[in-house]
Amino acid sequence: MKNFKRFRLLRENETIREQNAEIRLSPKDYIYPYFIVDGTDIKREISSMKGVYHLSIDRLLDDIAEIRSLGIDKVLLFGVIAPELKDARGSECINPDNIVCRAVRAIKSTYPDIVVFTDICMCEYTSHGHCGLLIDQDVDNDSTLALLAQQSLNHALSGADFVAPSAMMDGQVAAIKEIFEQHNLPTKILSYSAKYASNYYGPFRDAAHSAPSFGNRKTYQMDYRTLHQGIEEIESDLEEGADWTMVKPAMAYLDMICRGKERFPSTVMVSYQVSGEYSMLKLAAEAGYADERNIFRESLTAIKRAGADYIITYYAKEAARNF
Ligand code: PBG
Ligand code: ZN
Repeated sequence: MKNFKRFRLLRENETIREQNAEIRLSPKDYIYPYFIVDGTDIKREISSMKGVYHLSIDRLLDDIAEIRSLGIDKVLLFGVIAPELKDARGSECINPDNIVCRAVRAIKSTYPDIVVFTDICMCEYTSHGHCGLLIDQDVDNDSTLALLAQQSLNHALSGADFVAPSAMMDGQVAAIKEIFEQHNLPTKILSYSAKYASNYYGPFRDAAHSAPSFGNRKTYQMDYRTLHQGIEEIESDLEEGADWTMVKPAMAYLDMICRGKERFPSTVMVSYQVSGEYSMLKLAAEAGYADERNIFRESLTAIKRAGADYIITYYAKEAARNF
């Protein structure tokens, strides 16, 4: 018989499989997202995202104490804005005392070692739910830039370590970089560089009350039928001064994580396991079609194996606790 390789020796038992594992997950891999609401003593589960909550700032601090004890050290903040504070121009997004600025200050004064990322976008703040200023029913790229820069400046002055622009306006990284340089701020930029117009954001829009009231996001978020454009988006964000870059969503875009990391190996690559991915896995487990811990472990391992240095995931707490 011909000689053949005995791969099964690498899989004989759990000790041997563990010795041969190349990808291992750690709590430091995760960035944990939070949805923050005004008020006190609020912790309300989001119906479309089991295990994820709307939190008031006091309860947010309690939760951060918990994730710290699990070894998680990075958080991403989203503001959930009361309807009465929303208007067509999204004015609340540049209020230096809005819910996100207050949350950043509270976290940094209580837990200075927690790395705080804030999402930079207008859809959570505008009454129409689009990511920029509207002119004639479409977002106006260039007039949105100054607002995103001002929002970033406010977050930076509140103590954010990173701002994460997600509006997909061309030139947003350059605009933010410029205002940070003018103010001599050390704040870094994690750009949502390759962010696709995806069907996986549904539960988030419910959670952040940010669904577009008309139309869709296809004029600014990327078309998933493109291939090379994702690399060009990453490249131009790096040229504009992005410190870290991102591919979003994760599971349906593992190829783009891999291509981006191979093309720019020295750049920190983040990927976002978005709300739809999270809820899909949760519901499959709940229905008995998969073991929850195992299926999340597999999906997070795959994202890391594709090349992500860090993963934004709603499962971070449970992942840190369970594997
Ligand atoms: C805001 C934003 C969205 C997400 C992150 N930032 C929604 C969107 O672009 O429609 C999605 C995150 C998720 O689905 O978990 N622009
Ligand atoms: Zn948006």
